[in-house]
Amino acid sequence: MQKDLSRLLRDPNLIPFAKQNLLSRIANQAAALNMPCYIVGGFVRDLLLGYPINDLDIVVEGDAIKLGKSLVEKYGGKLTPHHKFHTAVWRLPSSFILHPSSLDLITARSETYSRPAALPTVTPASIEDDLRRRDFTINAMAIRLDGDHFGELLDPLNGQADLEKKIIRVLHPRSFMDDPTRIFRAVRYEQRYSFHLELSTFDAQPATFSPLSGGRLRHELDLIFKEENSAAMLARLHQLGVFDAFDPCLPKFNADYANLLKSVPPAEFGVSEDQVTAGYLLWVLDSTAAVVESLARRLVFSSALTQACKSIIQLKKDLPALKTSKPSAWTFYLEKIPLQAIYVLWLVFRAPALREFLVHWRHVKQNTNGAILKARGIAPGPRYKNLLSQLRQARLDEVVKNEKEEEEFLNRLL
Ligand code: CTP
Repeated sequence: MQKDLSRLLRDPNLIPFAKQNLLSRIANQAAALNMPCYIVGGFVRDLLLGYPINDLDIVVEGDAIKLGKSLVEKYGGKLTPHHKFHTAVWRLPSSFILHPSSLDLITARSETYSRPAALPTVTPASIEDDLRRRDFTINAMAIRLDGDHFGELLDPLNGQADLEKKIIRVLHPRSFMDDPTRIFRAVRYEQRYSFHLELSTFDAQPATFSPLSGGRLRHELDLIFKEENSAAMLARLHQLGVFDAFDPCLPKFNADYANLLKSVPPAEFGVSEDQVTAGYLLWVLDSTAAVVESLARRLVFSSALTQACKSIIQLKKDLPALKTSKPSAWTFYLEKIPLQAIYVLWLVFRAPALREFLVHWRHVKQNTNGAILKARGIAPGPRYKNLLSQLRQARLDEVVKNEKEEEEFLNRLL
């Protein structure tokens, strides 16, 4: 079905006016430089599907850096050129009030892979070559923006037909070998749009994945955890044998936790929303510390994420023993654990003490401080830490309930 793309490009429900204005400015400037200018990739896919648009991927046949320079000259902002890749990032002038506040300008290019899973070598080329280097037919369409060509669809690989048939299809048989991250992308689109993956060219062989760097692999998983349907995506990757091909010790995501992935921490918890970290924590929750070690190594986790993953496993183990503990024991234990790990464990087990810690206990402090102890004539030294900790413990366990009782308690300690 032929859609009227120039009408869709002007639909404010799909593309806010500010983004439409930005596109016109770029298109006019490209036309003035005689550079055919296109919007490509996910933008075209989502526009045809009627989904709201996020990123703007601009490709020109010509020189994206030259276009960027002329845009900065005319409208301001800042250009960061990447000569090796013939691309530029335009930090938009603040008067544009747009999010994201920068934009990639790309020169149409072809790519060759020196070896599987390596980053490609790029050479300037035609828009058609540029579309042919891409991952899936549904991502290999472009809409021309400049001059009288505004709204023309370029679809040399029949992406629109695959969108209608709801198929995710690679462009050539070596595609997954060239770039193994594509299987993660394929599954993301498949589950996001309820499409199906055309699998004849995919074979989950360890050889396909072993050269892929941990950082690139983790980036794909981060993107999955940002999605609505991340549990379904992970399940599908398992079903396809992707995780086993990477590393047979990668854990399976427990489907019971699927709904928890969408949880937002209650404001009173004072825990920031971090869907990606929460995703990894739920993923490793039923594993062992040894599995976390190897996962962290393979996926080059940050030390903070590794720490959080190790902590949640330990906390889960210690939970039964802590159950009957006093608030102070809980607090002194939990203070050593990242808040995200405590929050995620609470999501799973709803242990009231975890909630109490996040909302109240961690904020309970004794009134007495070093200056007060000094004024009481106690010589500064390790004893301070001990006294202050005993006072906080008494406060947490409500042995003392106010300043006066705390003072009396201190008197008894001295
Ligand atoms: N692309 C590709 N192969 C990759 C990554 C990206 O061919 N490994 C191409 C695709 O044409 C894709 C475009 O680059 O549409 C932009 O990539 P990206 O921003 O990652 O994806 P989007 O299509 O915008 O999808 P999403 O909605 O997930 O952001």
